[in-house]
This record gives sequence, structure tokens and C-alpha cells, in this order.
Amino acid sequence: MAEKNKKAWGGRFREPLAKTAEAFSSSVAYDSRLFKQDIVGSIAYARALVKAKVLSAAEAKKIIRALEEIMRGMQAGRIALKAEFEDVHMNIESLLIAKIGETGKKLHAGRSRNDQVVTDVRMYAKYEVTEIVRLIKKLQTVFIDLAEKHIKVIMPGYTHLQRAQPVLLSHHLMAYYEMFARDKEKFLAAGCEADVMTLGSGALAGAGFDIDREALAKELGFSKISKNSLDAVSDRDFIVSFAAAASLLMTHISRFSEELIIWSTYEFNFVEISDRYTTGSSIMPQKKNPDIAELCRGKTGRVFGNLTRLLTILKGLPLAYNRDLQEDKEALFDTVDTVKSVLAIYSEMLAATKFNAEVMTAAARKGYLTATDVAYYLVGRGIPFREAHAIVGKIVAYCEESNMQIEYLSLNQLKQFSDVFTYDVTRVLSAESSIANRDIPGGTAASRVKEAIKRARKDLLHDKA
Ligand code: ARG
Repeated sequence: MAEKNKKAWGGRFREPLAKTAEAFSSSVAYDSRLFKQDIVGSIAYARALVKAKVLSAAEAKKIIRALEEIMRGMQAGRIALKAEFEDVHMNIESLLIAKIGETGKKLHAGRSRNDQVVTDVRMYAKYEVTEIVRLIKKLQTVFIDLAEKHIKVIMPGYTHLQRAQPVLLSHHLMAYYEMFARDKEKFLAAGCEADVMTLGSGALAGAGFDIDREALAKELGFSKISKNSLDAVSDRDFIVSFAAAASLLMTHISRFSEELIIWSTYEFNFVEISDRYTTGSSIMPQKKNPDIAELCRGKTGRVFGNLTRLLTILKGLPLAYNRDLQEDKEALFDTVDTVKSVLAIYSEMLAATKFNAEVMTAAARKGYLTATDVAYYLVGRGIPFREAHAIVGKIVAYCEESNMQIEYLSLNQLKQFSDVFTYDVTRVLSAESSIANRDIPGGTAASRVKEAIKRARKDLLHDKA
């Protein structure tokens, strides 16, 4: 007992924690990010303890004032947390006790770091959901603006990365708007999952004092309270949902990055990413590399990794709290930081990207992209689709051999393949007509894309998230 054990649990220990174990288990380096949530939670908890008759009003006042001072000190960078106090919660508690002595020691009654930490993380996750949703909306706006700007630009639509049918570039861009709309929903759902107040669960069995949990939830901006204390202290599903939403968001970012990277090649030349978002090569003077898009694609790996990390941490845990759960935070924080930085740079880069309309449109005119339209033309004249398909297949083969495009075939040439062709076939041969014929909800006809853009703008405007 010679060496005093300074830890909050020091009472039952004969020896202090080994320095190595202390360093190994400390989380201050990263969970200090939760200091605001922790202090706000403690202030509300102090009030709850007054109602529960554990603290007097005067004691609570003293505690709250000291906590507010600590908050200000931390915000101003005057107070630094110490690794020896293990985590953000112990640090703030020790700062409180250093400030006001005995009274500070009363705050933790009925509370455990087990219900405290998850309350902090839930507050944090809720806040970050709104931040990320805001950034997603900004990116969506960039996509809408570009779609509007390029409303009539024709490009080849691809399947298997082979030219398939002509589409509008605006339609292609609006496809990403839709993906991000789903991502937003998923983040909002993760935010709802996080919106559960866990204080009052104690270490695992429920606080031993009469904490008004509903009032505490209200004060902390939560709409619900947890229903089972064992679950409450060990549930990290909301973080998994957050990381899953982030993984899909990154999947979508990565898909578009891949397109930008391919499109910016000399071979495609569909886009020119601004100099401000590309880098040169230290050896090859001609190079202009799409590094930002590549990094966004690459960072997808980190976010997937974080999701896997979280699921793996959780999978073998018996109820209730286990220290493994401390490992949830870096996965969440890294996900937040990565997603936010990617969304921010992406909006910038995309807004500054130039689309080479002529090149895209020229590409859409080469490669028999209207072959399906010709088959449909034949269907319209009574030929069964499978037969029409075969006839047009032969036309394509003929064009390949003679190095021609379908739209330049004369009526006589077409008639050699089927006698139902008449003059009006010219109406289906062009990329323009092919697009105009997709006048169906969700289709690429300009009027439909315009509608989609209008709807998207309205949705973004009315979306209160
Ligand atoms: N730093 C811990 C964590 O992040 C806080 C809870 C610690 N609880 C405990 N009983 N050791 O999970």
C-alpha cells in the first residue's frame, strides 16, 4: 500500500496499474474528441441527481459551474487531458475533483462509464449524422447543377463497359443523385438509432437511484430512452448502422471516382478534371493524374475496414459491457473524418470538372448504339422481337465489315435485310431519336430528366434533415 493508488477504483488494489498497461489501455488520445458531449451529459446528470435527492441544489450548482469552466478551458486549449487518467470521462471527473474537491466526487453516483460513454457516443453520432447529411445534400446539388447545365448532352450509356444505348449525360449524373438520396436516408436512420438515451443504466443493471430518465433524455435532446440496461451499455448497433451507411456512400463515391478516372484518360477524354484537383508526375512531364478521385476510391477501403472492424469487435461479446467496446470509437471517428473529407473535396472537384460534350456525343454515334431501336422498329411492324434481334445483328455485322454506322445505311441497304423497312426508319436511327423514345418515367428522354431534376430540387428544398 506504500505507493498510493490514484485510480478512481484504487480502493481494492494493492498495486498500481503497470505503466505499460496504463499506456496500452488509455483511450484519451482519441476519446478526448467526446469532451463536449461528456460535459453536457454530466451537467444534465447533475440535475437529475438533484431530483433524485442525491445532490443538493447548491452542490449541483457548484458542479455545473466547474464543469462549464472545464468546458471553456478545453475549448480554449488551456486544459489538456492526461493519458494516465485512462479516458475522457476519468479526466473530466478528475479535473472536476481538482477544482471543487469533495463535491466533485459525488457526481458519479448511480452512473457508470459504461452508460456514460455510450451516451456520449450517441450524442456525437447524432450530431455527425446531421453534418454528413448536409454534406451529402451539397454534393447532390452539384450533381443537379451539372445535370441541368448538360441537360441535352448525349453520351454512350454502358453495360459491361461496352457501349450499349445512347443516354443523356444529365441522366447519368442524376443516377448518382438517387444513390446519394438513399445514402442520406440510411444516415438519417442511423441517427434515429443513435437517438436513444442510455444514462440511468448504471454499469449494467440500472442506476440504483431514482433518476428521471425521461427528463434526462429530453434535456440531452434524445427522443427515447433505452429499455434494457444490459442492452443499453453493450449495444453498438447504431455505430454499425452508421458505418454501413458510410460504406454504401463510399461505394457510390468510389463508383463515380472510377468513372471519372476512366473518363479522364486520353482514350476516353470525356472529362477534364481541373488542374486544381489533379497532380503531375515528378518524372513524366506530360502526366495529369486524377489523384483526388483515386484517393476517394482508395479511402473506401478504410471505411469498409471500419465496418468489418466494428462487426468483428461485437461478434463474440457476452453481455454486458466489455472493454473491447472501447475499440468502437476509432472506427467510428475515422469513418466520420474520412466521409466528411471525401464529401467536401468531392463537391469541389466535381463542380470544377469539365465535361467534353462533343467527344461524348461523338462516342454515342459510334458503336451501333441504336441497334435496339432498329429492332424495336421491326417489332412495330409485326416482326417478333427475337427475329428482329437476329436481323439487326446481321445489319451490325454488315456495318462492321464495311466500316459503316447504322444511321448512314441507305434504305436500299436496309431493305436487303428486311423488306418491312420504309423511309420512316430514319426516325429511329439517330442517338437523338433513341433518347427521345425513352419517354417513360425513369427514362432518359430529356423531358423525363428535366422532371427528375425538378423533383430533385424540390426534394432537397423540402427535406428538413
Ligand atoms: N473508455 C471506456 C470505453 O471507451 C469507457 C468505459 C470503461 N468502463 C470500464 N468499466 N472500464 O469503453
